[in-house]
Amino acid sequence: MEVHEVDFEPVGRRGQCRKDESLLACAHHHFIGINSVCGGQGKCRSCKVQVLSGDVSGPTSSEREAFSTQELENGWRLACQTYIAGDGKVNMPPESMSAVQRIQVEGLEGKVEVQPPVQAHELTVSAPSMTDQRADIDRLLDALNAQYNLHCDRFDVDVMRSLSPRLRSWKWRCQVSVRRNEVVALGSWPSRHLGLAIDLGTTKIAGYLVDLSDGRTLAAHGATNPQIGYGDDIISRINRAIRSPEKGVKLQRVVVDTISKMAADLCAEAGADTDEIVEAVVVGNTAMHHLFLGLPVKQLALSPYVPAVSGALDVKARDLGMQIAPGAYVHLLPNIAGFVGADHVAMLLAVDAGQVDASTIALDIGTNTEVSLITDRNITSVSCASGPAFEGYHIIQGMRASSGAIERVEITADGIRYQTIDNAPPIGICGSGALDVMAQLYLLGVIDDSGRMMKEHPRVRLWGKQQEFVLVGDGDNSGEPSVVFTQGDIRELQLAKSAIRTGIQVLIESNGCSEDEISQVIIAGAFGTYIDVSSAIAIGMLPPIPLDRFRQVGNAAGTGARMALLSGRKRDESNTIASHTGYIELAGAPGFKRTFVEASYLGRYRMRNGKREAID
Ligand code: FES
Repeated sequence: MEVHEVDFEPVGRRGQCRKDESLLACAHHHFIGINSVCGGQGKCRSCKVQVLSGDVSGPTSSEREAFSTQELENGWRLACQTYIAGDGKVNMPPESMSAVQRIQVEGLEGKVEVQPPVQAHELTVSAPSMTDQRADIDRLLDALNAQYNLHCDRFDVDVMRSLSPRLRSWKWRCQVSVRRNEVVALGSWPSRHLGLAIDLGTTKIAGYLVDLSDGRTLAAHGATNPQIGYGDDIISRINRAIRSPEKGVKLQRVVVDTISKMAADLCAEAGADTDEIVEAVVVGNTAMHHLFLGLPVKQLALSPYVPAVSGALDVKARDLGMQIAPGAYVHLLPNIAGFVGADHVAMLLAVDAGQVDASTIALDIGTNTEVSLITDRNITSVSCASGPAFEGYHIIQGMRASSGAIERVEITADGIRYQTIDNAPPIGICGSGALDVMAQLYLLGVIDDSGRMMKEHPRVRLWGKQQEFVLVGDGDNSGEPSVVFTQGDIRELQLAKSAIRTGIQVLIESNGCSEDEISQVIIAGAFGTYIDVSSAIAIGMLPPIPLDRFRQVGNAAGTGARMALLSGRKRDESNTIASHTGYIELAGAPGFKRTFVEASYLGRYRMRNGKREAID
């Protein structure tokens, strides 16, 4: 049988595909997770890919229906309908990838020249003698400054404590890590030269172990923010810290312990030691930033909602209790305002906010959604309290994006098709699945534009006091309980999506633009990356602009944190971004309440001066 080599990007996997198997079958054969909601029947578009090179079969009728002529010319195809006829390369957009593959995508590298603020130097120091009785520190600094033309004159006290015995055990040859004019770590030669980048989200923490010598990400892990046990959202955690100083300390400690454990796990995966991590960068929203540092948070919850500190900071890791090299620093990017923090700065850094097209909207969807409008004049940001519904919380059968979560749904008059993570039996719905369900039920008329669920559909039933739609019935679920989507779930999602659309609208109006003028919408964040944008438009969460203007970019805050870890110049850029970004307090914006109410309606509509205008 004729076989061809196919490169699957961006995961960087190559596999042999037989001439008689579709691209989808070939990908699955090589354990590359491409979505296939309709099971390969060419009916759902969830398997769309872009053929970048190589001969393939001609488009089928389903593909002609799914794509415009221009899109077909640009290589867009349905993987289940396409057969390979020569060696080639295929790109999988994030929304077509299953959960397993997404973890790899979140490791995508940002473009950055590797010039970390901490440099490692190999050093041979002359041993002391009766004619050379200089102190060990002096002989090391003299050798270092002479060999590398530096002006290093500071020595971390913890490094100092272990210096003399270690130098002797290494026979006076070592690796010295220097940050500006300070020695921050010492190792035997050669040692690993590692950095840790952390995106500290309200609900999730993402951690990346980075090789500072070449910029490679060696390992990436995610964890739930343990502070969630003290409150789902920022305000409830701030209130906890205000009510009880001990709780504030606890909030700091649990998150630091999680980061330290993550650092240990990342090092174990990469065969490294946590002492080899000589620098860390942490980004988070302003409340997470303050709680991580143990700073007061009361003023964040009180008008006019100001941070205790907004500039970039360098803090010794040990002063925070972090278990990495004792002399290492943690660099914190600057905050913009009380509710737009360093994670948004990192995201703007990652998407190159200074260079993107004018009239770009960049949003990072999470428990708190930050949105910026970038024009050729300035950047303006808002913060939207979107809550944790899109992370699977506050939804009756909501769950995180993990095995068994329904992540894609298609409901037609013929029935329901869904896809679960790992193709496991369905046990709940994650954010992208909930968004799809809401959009599909709205398009089928099962819920109206106010969000009310109609009684007429055979799958709608009354349970207790509320209506619910049975997505997976007991009988269809191999003995597992049914999975339902309730009227209450719709209300939670309406609040979340209304907050986001209101934020976008306030930015557009305050900058004197219209939705039509938006040239690009960049969507970041784990949830935002994997949503079906057309579902988000169908429920009125995003403005109805052409789909090709949307770009889903993954965990851009994490990418920005890694860029700042690898480059002093990027740190300077982040300071410039923060100081040039204006902030609008959403609740104080003219017509906020009216806009919020209007934006809670479902459907495709434009907003003008806080009023909906229906469109086709
Ligand atoms: S269109 Fe290919 S799997 Fe549905």
